[in-house]
Amino acid sequence: MSNHLFSNFKLGDMLLQNHVVMAPMTRNRCPDNIPNEMVVNYYAQRTEAGLIITEGTSPSDSGLGYPRIPGLFTGEQMKAWKKVTEAVHRGGSRIFVQLMHCGRVAHPDNMMSGLEIVAPSPVAIKGEKMWTDQNGLQDYPVPEEMTENEILSTIEEYVHSADLAMQAGFDGVEIHGANGYLIDQFLNTASNHRQDRWGGSIENRTRFALEVTKAVSLKIGAGKVGFRMSPYGVFNGMTSDAHTEDIFEKLAADFQKLGILYIHIVDHSSMGAPEVKASVKARIRAQFKGVVILSGGYDIKRAEHDLSEKKGELFAFGRPFISNPKLVTKMKKHLPLTPADSTTFYTPGEKGYIDYSLE
Ligand SMILES: Cc1cc2nc3c(=O)[nH]c(=O)nc-3n(C[C@H](O)[C@H](O)[C@H](O)COP(=O)(O)O)c2cc1C
Repeated sequence: MSNHLFSNFKLGDMLLQNHVVMAPMTRNRCPDNIPNEMVVNYYAQRTEAGLIITEGTSPSDSGLGYPRIPGLFTGEQMKAWKKVTEAVHRGGSRIFVQLMHCGRVAHPDNMMSGLEIVAPSPVAIKGEKMWTDQNGLQDYPVPEEMTENEILSTIEEYVHSADLAMQAGFDGVEIHGANGYLIDQFLNTASNHRQDRWGGSIENRTRFALEVTKAVSLKIGAGKVGFRMSPYGVFNGMTSDAHTEDIFEKLAADFQKLGILYIHIVDHSSMGAPEVKASVKARIRAQFKGVVILSGGYDIKRAEHDLSEKKGELFAFGRPFISNPKLVTKMKKHLPLTPADSTTFYTPGEKGYIDYSLE
């Protein structure tokens, strides 16, 4: 098999049509947290990707921190996602669902009434605001500290959701451990002040990520599980500390033992975040022998280069896929790309969602 961005790639037991991945992107087009026909159409338009990773999708009602994001914890949601997976498979692509529990990245206006916002520790995000459809931008509230029992039942929610993902026809599940959402909140000292077995030491801070991944792997098979991580990320109030690299190296070593399919590394330096040091990427790669997906600011040239240097096997494109549904054709023909309109990233409706040119 030739090692070219547009050549086939064997991901576990799947043959991908190329090394191009559509990065997970929240688009807030799911009223009542259920993907509708417009969402089916959006993904069906983008099946030139070897692999599509869906927008962040909540494994439980308490994980729905943003307005209009999808869930995957009810039979109705499962059936709605089935239409998406069928359309994507018809188009020749493969699709993983990204399981995202927002944790403290939430506001009561965005949640069903009576639900608590939960997080490892009662620490609110400062200096940023959350969008609510009812009242516009709002301060983040202080979340409730999760009890031991709540932590264990949340792990079970991920397992239940992964089980529904298989029923919905997904090829696998990506566990969202990046960008300051619940799993990252456990990894990071900015949000995890616990002194029990879920906080403090490197082993304790990584426990939740590992237990979720282990439990999901037991349910659906480690060969269907990926994990997204963002070392040095600052989104949603995250920070780095003296142990940042050790945390991600340990996770990579643990995931190697579990035998999961891939690690997906986020690098948002192209979006103004700090650089993700080459040292941490190298430490992850040294520990983990499975597939590595790299993401953040990729174009064809950089992806071809990093593939030839064996920095990763697959390359995820985010914003370029929003505004260029036929991104692979455009890259192959070296055609200019349409820039994405960031004012419609998260707005309801078809504009900026399914109306980009299909040429
Ligand atoms: C509109 C938008 C929504 C996003 N939503 C998610 C998400 O739900 N889950 C996630 O892991 N990353 C999310 N991201 C980050 C992207 O997956 C990707 O890492 C980022 O856009 C950088 O890649 P790019 O330079 O190719 O756009 C989002 C990015 C954008 C622009």
